Amino acid sequence: MPATLTDPFGRRIDYVRLSVTDRCDLRCLYCLPEDYRDFTEPAEWLGFDEIVRVIGAFAALGVQRVRITGGEPLVRKQLPQLTARLARLPGITDLSLSTNAVALARHAAALREAGITRINVSLDSLQPERFRDITRGRLDKVLEGLRAAKAAGFTPIKINMVVMRGINDDETVDMVRFCSDNGFTLRFIETMPIGSTGQTATSHYIDLQQVRERIEQHFTLVPGVMPGGGPARYVQVAGTDLRIGFITPLSQHFCATCNRVRLAVDGRLHLCLGQEHSFDFRTLLRAGATDRELREAVIEAIALKPERHEFNEKPQQVVRFMAKTGG
Ligand SMILES: C[S@@+](CC[C@H](N)C(=O)[O-])C[C@H]1O[C@@H](n2cnc3c(N)ncnc32)[C@H](O)[C@@H]1O
Ligand code: SF4
Repeated sequence: MPATLTDPFGRRIDYVRLSVTDRCDLRCLYCLPEDYRDFTEPAEWLGFDEIVRVIGAFAALGVQRVRITGGEPLVRKQLPQLTARLARLPGITDLSLSTNAVALARHAAALREAGITRINVSLDSLQPERFRDITRGRLDKVLEGLRAAKAAGFTPIKINMVVMRGINDDETVDMVRFCSDNGFTLRFIETMPIGSTGQTATSHYIDLQQVRERIEQHFTLVPGVMPGGGPARYVQVAGTDLRIGFITPLSQHFCATCNRVRLAVDGRLHLCLGQEHSFDFRTLLRAGATDRELREAVIEAIALKPERHEFNEKPQQVVRFMAKTGG
């Protein structure tokens, strides 16, 4: 069996995004419909033992990095216990979390203790009413969560802002100042046409080059690097430690260097955010697959990875919601 995973296009796959739930305590307008209730049921969720076995199979095949995501991962009960088990898996060297931070104040210390080092927090507005309009949630909870994350010692803390024309694009400069003042890294993200919500939200699509030009009217940007920076292209604000990443799946896609796959809570491995190719691990697990069979299945699944998304050519293609895939 190979020591590393390579897909049909020669890309080394060393990163799994693990969705521990498709549920969420927010309803971001580009992600989940406000009245959405069609979540998977507990019987469909992979249990912690099942998750550890699948991630263990990936780790045995050279995957070193796992990001825990959702839905909102903090709504899954006993997440620190799962985290600690994943952190102990041989080969896993980097465990991180994506969260909306609503419940982070309660969990930050336990998650840091359990082995998560890096954390990404979604934050699309610094204005309480606007934040509520975008997410249907409370900004003060998120800010409280961010303070707890700093106190717990996560580093880096990255802020993810989905920029939407006419909704929050006038706040990008404020967000730069906020991140600079707090020692956070900032990443701007283009709205993707994922699910009906994402497809509607792309009517507010803005090319991040325009965001960059607006920021350059206020700050001098110099080339920047970010270890483990993923698909973002980074700049640094001259004279500060602030790094800003631009994630541009639509205006400049980065599929040629894609190194990741996504395991959803129902055990389905999604090979691409923008395509339907997937592989069902739950059925295998529940049919009594051995560890060797799981590793063989991982290799089989990676062979299904498509070359690229088609967000521009086929924007109606992905009907599942982002929270379902694991963003
Ligand atoms: C699905 S969320 C899951 C983790 C957590 N609930 C959070 O919001 O950070 C992961 C990321 O996906 C982003 N996202 C969701 N739907 C999106 C869309 N249609 N276009 C671009 N980004 C999206 C969110 O902003 C967030 O940064
Ligand atoms: S982006 Fe994250 S916080 Fe917002 S609805 Fe989706 S899963 Fe929830």
